[in-house]
Amino acid sequence: MGKLYGLLGHPVAHSLSPLMHNDAFKDQQLPYHYQAFDVEPSQLKQAVVGLKALGVSGFNVTIPHKVEVMKYLDAVDEEAKIIGAVNTVVNENGTFIGYNTDGRGYLQSLLTIANDLSDKHVLVVGAGGAARAIVTVLSQHETKTLTITNRTKGKAELLADECRRKTAIDIVSLAQAAENIAGYDVIINTTSVGMSPNIDDIPLSLEHLKESAIVSDLIYNPFKTKWLHIAEEKGATIHNGIGMFVGQGALAFEKWTGIRPDLKRMEEVVIKHLGGK
Ligand code: ATR
Repeated sequence: MGKLYGLLGHPVAHSLSPLMHNDAFKDQQLPYHYQAFDVEPSQLKQAVVGLKALGVSGFNVTIPHKVEVMKYLDAVDEEAKIIGAVNTVVNENGTFIGYNTDGRGYLQSLLTIANDLSDKHVLVVGAGGAARAIVTVLSQHETKTLTITNRTKGKAELLADECRRKTAIDIVSLAQAAENIAGYDVIINTTSVGMSPNIDDIPLSLEHLKESAIVSDLIYNPFKTKWLHIAEEKGATIHNGIGMFVGQGALAFEKWTGIRPDLKRMEEVVIKHLGGK
């Protein structure tokens, strides 16, 4: 039987989620459809109530509704509660359960290039919503050390406190992080610095970066930020925001269908749409 999935956001016209999910449904020969809905913040509650009345099987939630939507769900999973945001909702026998697949989706993608993080010094740049998803998940994953740097240091401290990691999370200033950049094996930019149209900005100096480092930027517009260009010139391995986008989508797909989709194919569909690397 056909099933309907959706996306609630504002705006959503440029979202690549419908393309990615509808292609994955086709690939798995599932007669399902994914539809984006542009919902004004003032209409969010009515939209969620409406989706339930219609028996929609699940949906994604994007900017600006990820925090607000939690109020209108029947339950929210523990990790999503810690992150403080929901990006995926599953209709489980008529109840709407909220999850957050951003952090885990990102981690799965990062692990395809980093293999093992237990021997790595990891630095997260930023302490906003995206950093929260990533630090929450990294806190539960073994890394040699985990450090956060942010323009506003207090926000990094707050995030570290809330993540309740077994071992301490270090907080350093942007200047200290830049000075000690050679001490980190994996460096992740979660800020919007470098995103189009401000493509000449970089979030952190990479002057002393070591060649063996992995530099990961959550931004995928542009595809390769100036920061990633610099990292690549220094011989580092780079990882862009497509990984997180596809990773979160693949985990949502799995929650909805019980099937692990073809990640490579999902990535190719998105990259092709964006005009290649
Ligand atoms: P998101 O939900 O996308 O993470 P956010 O919650 O607004 O967005 O967080 C944005 C992050 O980018 C923050 O870490 C922010 O730093 P502050 O906490 O100091 O505001 C960081 N950021 C945004 N613009 C920046 C800039 N020009 N320079 C340095 N950091 C910046």
